[in-house]
Parts: sequence; C-alpha cells; structure tokens
Amino acid sequence: MQSLRVNLGERSYPIHVGAGILEQAGELLRQAGLHGKAAIVTNPVVAQLYLDTVHDALSQAGFEVSPVLLPDGEEHKNLKSLATIYDCLIAGRLERTSCVLALGGGVVGDLAGLAAATYLRGVPYVQVPTTLLAQVDSSVGGKTGVNHEKGKNLIGAFCQPKLVLIDIAVLGSLPRRELIAGLAEVIKYGIIKDPALFSLLEQSVEKIIGLNHDLLTHIVATSCAIKARVVEADEREDDYRAVLNFGHTVGHAVEAATGYRQFLHGEAVGIGMVKAAALSVRQSVCDAASLKRVTALVERAGLPAEIPPGVSPKTLIQAMEIDKKVAGGKIKFVMCEGIGKTRFHWLTPEEILRGLGA
Ligand SMILES: NC(=O)c1ccc[n+]([C@@H]2O[C@H](COP(=O)([O-])OP(=O)(O)OC[C@H]3O[C@@H](n4cnc5c(N)ncnc54)[C@H](O)[C@@H]3O)[C@@H](O)[C@H]2O)c1
Ligand SMILES: [Zn+2]
Repeated sequence: MQSLRVNLGERSYPIHVGAGILEQAGELLRQAGLHGKAAIVTNPVVAQLYLDTVHDALSQAGFEVSPVLLPDGEEHKNLKSLATIYDCLIAGRLERTSCVLALGGGVVGDLAGLAAATYLRGVPYVQVPTTLLAQVDSSVGGKTGVNHEKGKNLIGAFCQPKLVLIDIAVLGSLPRRELIAGLAEVIKYGIIKDPALFSLLEQSVEKIIGLNHDLLTHIVATSCAIKARVVEADEREDDYRAVLNFGHTVGHAVEAATGYRQFLHGEAVGIGMVKAAALSVRQSVCDAASLKRVTALVERAGLPAEIPPGVSPKTLIQAMEIDKKVAGGKIKFVMCEGIGKTRFHWLTPEEILRGLGA
C-alpha cells in the first residue's frame, strides 16, 4: 500500500492506494478518527460487486452501516438523486459526527460529496473511487456537484474528503473502455507535470491496460500526488488549478458537439490533448517531437486522436462559448512546452480553431 497526503491545513487528508484496500476500509476509517454511523452511497452495478465487502469491513470495525442506492449513470447526477441521499441520511438519523462513504465512480463521488458538504451543514465523507477516472481525478481535490439541465456541474461545493481509499483491484471489473478513458487523465498528468510518468506510460501502456497491479498502484499514486500538489497550490481554482484542464477545452467542446453520446469524457480528452499539443507547436511554444510522442501514446492507449469529420468548426466554437470557463470572450488555454511543462494563453474560440487549422 502507498500512502500520500493532501496538505491543506486543517482540511488535510490521507490517500491510501493499493490492492485489497476495501477489506481494510473499517480499520482505515477508524484510524482517520471516524466512528458511529456510516452511509455507503453507491449504485446497483458497484453494489453488486463491492458493497458486501465494504459493508462487512465497516461493520466489523464497529460502524452502524446504512447503504444508499442511486440509479447508475451521468443522467442521474442531479438534484433528484441528491434528494434521495438526503432522505436516506435523515431516515437513518445520521448525525454531525456520522460519515458518508462514496463507493463508485465520479458520478457517485460527486453526488455523495455534495450531500456530505450540505447535510447538517457538513458531515465528514470518504471517497472510495472504483473507476480509474475517479481514482486519479474526481476523488481528490474536493470538487463536488450535480448537473443542471442547462449544463454540467452547475451546482456544487468545494469540500475536501476526510480520507480517500483507492483499491486498484476493483479496476479488474471495470469495462476496458472505461479503464482506457481514465488513462487519458494519467497521460495528462505526465504531459503537464511529469516526464518520468510519461516515459513510463510509453514503456508500459499495454501492461497497465492488462491490469498489472504494481504499475497501476504506481501510476495512480503518482497521479494523485500531482493533483494533490496542484490543489494545494490553488484549492479553489482561482488561477493555477486550471492547468488540470490541459486537453479539456477542445475535449469538452467535442463532447458537447457530439451530444455527450459518442465519446466518454476521457476519450474526448485524448482528442483534446493531441489538439492542444498541435496548437502549442503552431504557436511555437512546443517542439514537433513532443507532439509526435503525445499523439503516439494517445493512439497506443486506444484513445481517439482526431476530431470526427462530422463535427463542424461552428459547433465547436458554440460549445466553447458556453463552457463556464470563458471570461470576457477568451479562454484560458493550457499549452504544453514539451513534456512536463505548461503555460497559459488567453485565446478566443476562433483563435483556437484557427490554430488547429480548422
Ligand atoms: N469532482 C471532480 O473533481 C471531478 C473530476 C473529473 C470528473 N468528475 C465527474 O466524474 C463523473 C465521471 O466519472 P466516471 O468516469 O467514474 O463515471 P461513472 O461514475 O459514471 O462510472 C462509469 C461506469 O462504471 C461503472 N463502475 C464504476 N466502478 C466500477 C467497477 N469497479 N467495475 C465495474 N463497473 C464500475 C459505473 O457504475 C458506471 O456505469 C462525471 O460526472 C464528471 O463530471 C468530477
Ligand atoms: Zn477530465
């Protein structure tokens, strides 16, 4: 097991990464100072696979456990599901010292986190992420939220968990497509911050997709450490945290322009990273060899690298304009200066598309 810490003063917390951690969840919660009642928020898919293990582990450590089942899927990351969680917490008489445990992917994590941030004006919560994306991204950093019919993540709160428990063995049941989509975020961390991580991915991407436990533990812990350092520097995304959006400007636009149906988020980020690197080369901040490495790794991972021909530049511009990160008509675009270094350029959506040659 590898352990690291997110250092945010009194909001600091540990992250434990390894195989077989679900079985130790009760002990680890107790070590983090938690006790009493615990609600496990999950969905039927994850519950069938892992709820018994976590339930038993918590019961054996003396917790009084109540499961909360939400319907599976991004379309249920909404106020209705949030209300379901509140109803269950109230029915189970959870108190200020009780805790909420999110067992699932980013959808469950964002919902359970927001419920915990607001129920009784805030109760402690624990992230137990079960997708690669949730393990390397959404479970760390304290962003919680739900979607509104007018847009994604429009309602939410910053609220750090008390503890993050990452069992990489659960990735064994994750559909391969979801695993590969999560890998896009790991590639992103290599490009923005860590040339050694990027090289390791180049050497071993097939073994990682083949679920080598040592490699998975290493890349997940390294990714969490990188995200932790960024969040420590800028917890509420006033400025520098935006570096995590590398590949996401074009990625989000492609997701929106294809109606969120064609691509998983990480797949769109694969396209977005290749396009961000290409734009960086065109603007003479990045060398062509780095673009070649980014493109080759994205393709070897099995991620798409090209904007589909059916998506028009006009729809991409429209999608970028409604992205909530636009300020005064310009987008804070993350460029890469080779592998491991970035810089921000303020660009209009038109400038971005022109830079892509579209
Ligand atoms: N809070 C943040 O900082 C942050 C960052 C990135 C993304 N997000 C959010 O995360 C969400 C996406 O998360 P996601 O990609 O994990 O999607 P998800 O939560 O929808 O999970 C994907 C699918 O995998 C299933 N699943 C989960 N774990 C499994 C396992 N171990 N075995 C088999 N199936 C499993 C889920 O039931 C679901 O069907 C989005 O809503 C996004 O906005 C939040
Ligand atoms: Zn992302």
